[in-house]
Amino acid sequence: MTVGIDGIEVWTGKLRLDLAETFAPAQGENPGKYTKGLGLYASSFPDTYEDIVTMGANAAHRLMDRKGLEPEDIGRIDVATESAFDNSKPVSTYVGGCLEQVYDGDFHHANKGERKFACISGTQSLDDAYNWIQAGRNRGRAGLVIATDTALYARDDPGEATQGAGAVAMLISEDPDLVELSAEQGYGSADETDFLKPQQQFPSVDGKRSVQVYLARMREAIEDYESVVGKIHPDDYVLGPFHTPFPGMVRKAAALAYRHFSRDTEIEVSLAEEIGRQPRREAFDSDEAFREAAAEYTDALTDTDTYQEWYEDVIEPTLKISREVGNWYTGSVHVARVAGMKHALENGQNLTGERMLVGSYGSGAQAEFHAETIQAGWAEEVGAMNVDEQLADRHELSFEKYERVHDAHNHDVESDVDRFTAPEAEFVFDGWGRMGERKYTYVE
Ligand code: HMG
Repeated sequence: MTVGIDGIEVWTGKLRLDLAETFAPAQGENPGKYTKGLGLYASSFPDTYEDIVTMGANAAHRLMDRKGLEPEDIGRIDVATESAFDNSKPVSTYVGGCLEQVYDGDFHHANKGERKFACISGTQSLDDAYNWIQAGRNRGRAGLVIATDTALYARDDPGEATQGAGAVAMLISEDPDLVELSAEQGYGSADETDFLKPQQQFPSVDGKRSVQVYLARMREAIEDYESVVGKIHPDDYVLGPFHTPFPGMVRKAAALAYRHFSRDTEIEVSLAEEIGRQPRREAFDSDEAFREAAAEYTDALTDTDTYQEWYEDVIEPTLKISREVGNWYTGSVHVARVAGMKHALENGQNLTGERMLVGSYGSGAQAEFHAETIQAGWAEEVGAMNVDEQLADRHELSFEKYERVHDAHNHDVESDVDRFTAPEAEFVFDGWGRMGERKYTYVE
């Protein structure tokens, strides 16, 4: 049986903050840190009537409508988020409630849940839906997986540069139109304290360490994956969507991945004249000396035409949306998948039958790798998405407006900020109920 992603929709927060033009000058920083260093041009933010429920429900509504589905076609709703506002009632119940406002049927026989493991829980939710179908428990129904987050940091935290907000809705089914998920996976997982939110809204982050932990866990996951599928060659995969907290992070990860994949291949041999062979640990007296030589080799490798061509084809396309929206936490790797396939469609590439190497990551920390085989319906699926319109329609924030929006979404600040955009044919946050629950309405 083929099981995988049948369709995807994204929903971006409706506000846009330009990092180079607006944020950097206000912070007294060089715009190059954002555009060149982090690789980010803009962040997306939710308007005052948007939150993780509205963004998730709106993405899911668009997906269900486009695929011609009714609630009885859905057997489970899994929401992955690290921005939940309730320790008991899952966000998926709110999303189900929203969708029931616009469909005749209901989700009373759908299994609903919420997954937490920082950014990797979106991929873990895909696993849950995949396993449920493979186990034959789905009664012919599909699973709805929604990754939704408002990735905000405290004001003046270094992470403020990488903020973002949006949702990705994915339909998991038998005989999928978009991609088949591989049964094979690799994991790298360890008890880390690089990024966490112990009963607080904004994360405590050890930013520099988080970068090292990301690389260490991704490496472990690759090795574990190779222990299942055998050695990977750089040409095995047409795209490499990785978790993208900011594109500069993926630039570092891709260099290490390529060094690893090209070791002991004809690529290493053909580059030897230009940059030498890769350093081997046994040739060095200490770990430190080896690490230094490996870092030097990696720098030289990334300057070669061979590497740059691979990067332009396999990695760069996956970063194109992220550059415009920032980190969407649980949705980020799924945005990278969309970006890569969208770029291929726009450039007339035929991806049918090709494979992607998908690398997910969540702080705390865990990485996972699996492969996805692109299905015949991919071009129609990706072509039906309206990502460019959504990005272009965002309201541009001045720095002063950004400060008000940040306050509006800060649970510790009393604020009374008017909305910046007018909602149309979408779910909106509509105030509080008698037990402190959040209320939602569909606006025509
Ligand atoms: P920072 O101190 O603000 O920035 O922190 P920086 O000074 O390190 O500069 C960033 C890069 O820009 C550097 O590049 C600079 O050299 C370069 P690098 O040396 O690293 O290659 N740069 C410039 N380049 C060109 N022209 C210039 C210029 N100026 C500087 N003028 C940091 C950066 C990432 C630490 C910070 O933004 C942060 O704390 N972010 C939040 C944590 C994060 O995103 N970590 C990533 C890995 S953890 C992860 O992915 C999990 C996560 O998604 C959460 C989850 O799982 O739930 C975050």
